[in-house]
Amino acid sequence: MKLAFSVSRGRNLRGNIVFKNREVPSEIRGYVRKNQSGIIVGKTAVCREGNRNMKYALIGCGRISTNHIEAALNNRLEIAAVCDVKPECMELLLAKHGLKEDTKIKRYTDFRKMLEETMPEFVSIATESGMHGEIAMYCIRRGIHVIIEKPMAMSLAQADKIIALAEQYHVKVAACHQNRFNLAVQEMRMALEAGRFGKISHGAVHVRWNRSRDYYSQAPWRGTWEQDGGALMNQCIHGIDLLRWMMGEVDSVYGVIRQQFHNYLEAEDVGLAVVTFKNGAVATIEGTTNVYPKNLEETLYLFGEKGTVKLGGKSTNHIEIWDFADETENDCKKKGLEETTRNVYGNGHTSLFADMVSAIRENRNPYVDAYEGRRALELVLAIYKSQKMGEVIRFPLTEFASADMAGEFE
Ligand SMILES: NC(=O)c1ccc[n+]([C@@H]2O[C@H](COP(=O)([O-])OP(=O)(O)OC[C@H]3O[C@@H](n4cnc5c(N)ncnc54)[C@H](O)[C@@H]3O)[C@@H](O)[C@H]2O)c1
Repeated sequence: MKLAFSVSRGRNLRGNIVFKNREVPSEIRGYVRKNQSGIIVGKTAVCREGNRNMKYALIGCGRISTNHIEAALNNRLEIAAVCDVKPECMELLLAKHGLKEDTKIKRYTDFRKMLEETMPEFVSIATESGMHGEIAMYCIRRGIHVIIEKPMAMSLAQADKIIALAEQYHVKVAACHQNRFNLAVQEMRMALEAGRFGKISHGAVHVRWNRSRDYYSQAPWRGTWEQDGGALMNQCIHGIDLLRWMMGEVDSVYGVIRQQFHNYLEAEDVGLAVVTFKNGAVATIEGTTNVYPKNLEETLYLFGEKGTVKLGGKSTNHIEIWDFADETENDCKKKGLEETTRNVYGNGHTSLFADMVSAIRENRNPYVDAYEGRRALELVLAIYKSQKMGEVIRFPLTEFASADMAGEFE
């Protein structure tokens, strides 16, 4: 398959490199490329060829859905249908993308009917988190590939069922941890895979955001144990996914969660944890929606004996510190790298959709598959269980559900 990429960079007022959606200057073409695993990464790293006929449908047309439609358009998918129980959400979404008059895009309020009538090759699921599992399993049983928004499910039992069914029905499942495709994250990962950090001492992830009553009152499922979880499950899970991906197999975790300011929710608004890894490294996690007055940062640190990297920005898309013992000229280009994003969700959906298309065509696993989705979920649930039991939780965690936390802050 022939691939074409486009991206461009400029310098912002601080002189840092900024990428924008234009043509690729040849000297930075390397930033949008196949990584060591052969996966296309980088902003607008889309498959431009051969996707026209891949039929796609979206289930859930709320806040995040615009990133899905944008990713589908960037990848030139045939958007066969959209589905939402609230018709006005579908219309708003399509209007936002200039697709309101496009009668080829069918609208459904029942996803089962949509699947039956339009038979898409793959769907993305962007409903409230508590519904991901049921909808995903319904799709998988019909042989439809799925991208599942994070968290992939609200219990390990459900995640395991999704994994087992996907194998049984030979269906591709991608967990929507799109930040893995951030340029800065990919640079960190490549340095790690090249062994440039040396022995890892420790890491840290900080998701210090603000979510007001307005945000939580947008939908009744937000902040409930069954449908959403709290700051760790909803806002921090991308950072938790990255930390675990970088640092390896978890040995144990001790976590504490609290509900400090949002007493109208069921779940936590701040969570802290100390994680130990089988390789001897340790890490801390801090996730909160309590930062006054607005989002402060999402940062990921990795400290090795020969390297220190800090990723920051709105969603780990800037390289703030990049220091290695074996520094070369190439490293200077990476210092201060900033990938521009419209919002905290970043640009990764387009890459994740591109990867799903390639995975289907090449009959391989998606880059962030269901096992990876389960790993992030397992770590969040282990922190919850640690709070509930007041003890260190050893891995692997075999059974736990967000709903098991019911009543924790009553
Ligand atoms: N990847 C990311 O960075 C990211 C960012 C935000 C949200 N999310 C995840 O995306 C999901 C949706 O979040 P949101 O903020 O867009 O929520 P939202 O409430 O704004 O949107 C959910 C939509 O799903 C619709 N829906 C509910 N039940 C349905 C059904 N049975 N069939 C079809 N549609 C149905 C609702 O009417 C609503 O419009 C959540 O799981 C959330 O965790 C991911």
